[in-house]
Amino acid sequence: MKILGIETSCDDTAASVVDNGVRILSNIISSQSLMHERYGGIIPEISSREHLTSIIPVVNEALTEASITPDQLDAVSVTYGPGLAGSLLVGVNVAKGLALSWDKPLLGINHLEGHIYAGWLEGVFEKINTGFPLVCLIASGGHTEIVLMKGHLDYQILARTRDDAAGEAFDKVARVLGLGFPGGPEIEREAVGANLEMDPFPRPSVKGSLDFSFSGLKTAVVRRAESEGFYPQSQEIAPSSEQVREYSAAFQEAIVDCLVSRTISAVEQYGAKGILIGGGVAANSELKKMMHQMSRTPVIVPRPSLCTDNGAMIAAAAFHRLKELDVSQWDLDAIPNLSLT
Ligand code: KG4
Ligand code: ZN
Repeated sequence: MKILGIETSCDDTAASVVDNGVRILSNIISSQSLMHERYGGIIPEISSREHLTSIIPVVNEALTEASITPDQLDAVSVTYGPGLAGSLLVGVNVAKGLALSWDKPLLGINHLEGHIYAGWLEGVFEKINTGFPLVCLIASGGHTEIVLMKGHLDYQILARTRDDAAGEAFDKVARVLGLGFPGGPEIEREAVGANLEMDPFPRPSVKGSLDFSFSGLKTAVVRRAESEGFYPQSQEIAPSSEQVREYSAAFQEAIVDCLVSRTISAVEQYGAKGILIGGGVAANSELKKMMHQMSRTPVIVPRPSLCTDNGAMIAAAAFHRLKELDVSQWDLDAIPNLSLT
């Protein structure tokens, strides 16, 4: 079953063709990060306009690279939430138009479900084959959730963030350190080989809950940067490269510790057979390493470029929805605050 997956929920315009939810025939991503780097973050108005100009060329490229024509597709799928309203609307409307004119079923997919099904792409899940229940950690720029997956398409949310998402914390701390956007990959790069001598940053927790809270960690980085005299930055005031490396490593260690410890607790509490991680932050090699090190159950991690936003994960999730004949109607609308359950 060949499905076209379209993803425009945030700042990447992406389209992909995936066979049977596993085999990627094409995976095209047009990134807006250079544009947003200029502003130090995502500007929703700019983002939706960029999607509008990129989406048709990206879809065409996905079909060309997969060497298929629209009549060979079994369905058209698209992220309909959560995400930025104006960005989601571009993808949803293009997907509707294509599905209608090609006479194919339309499937609206939850972005977070897409991040989960990235674990099935390229046979990663099948190879490890833990069975259910799985504890899924989804950590991205907009979300940080622990989800108990009891079977295909069957979810229970165990934890959320009370304030910032993990990726958002990476991006904010990167800005404090004068690094580029998105901040996660920049911090990861700086942290490699850093000389970690400073006091550790706090690992905030929410008493009696698996929930996350990252704003205290971010504030601790800001306070220390202020006390060491390099924040707020100006042309004269900037951290040394040694400071950037050490702060990056200490921050990364703290946030990875929060993510890993809460996920392992969820596995123990709910008797899960494995861990699946996804979302942009799952591209972080320290997170992957620590999760493998601390977990007694198998850990499923897509390769980094399938952790960050892409169309293949949407097509992979759509395969499982299509199997259940769970298709969308023509009045499908973008839902910016869509929840997984
Ligand atoms: O899933 P994603 O591509 O988009 C959203 O759904 O938000 O996640 C983007 C987030 C950004 O905040 C980015 O800084 C973070 O994922 N990220 C990383 C890494 N690569 C991307 N965070 C830590 N380490 C990375 N290597
Ligand atoms: Zn995402």
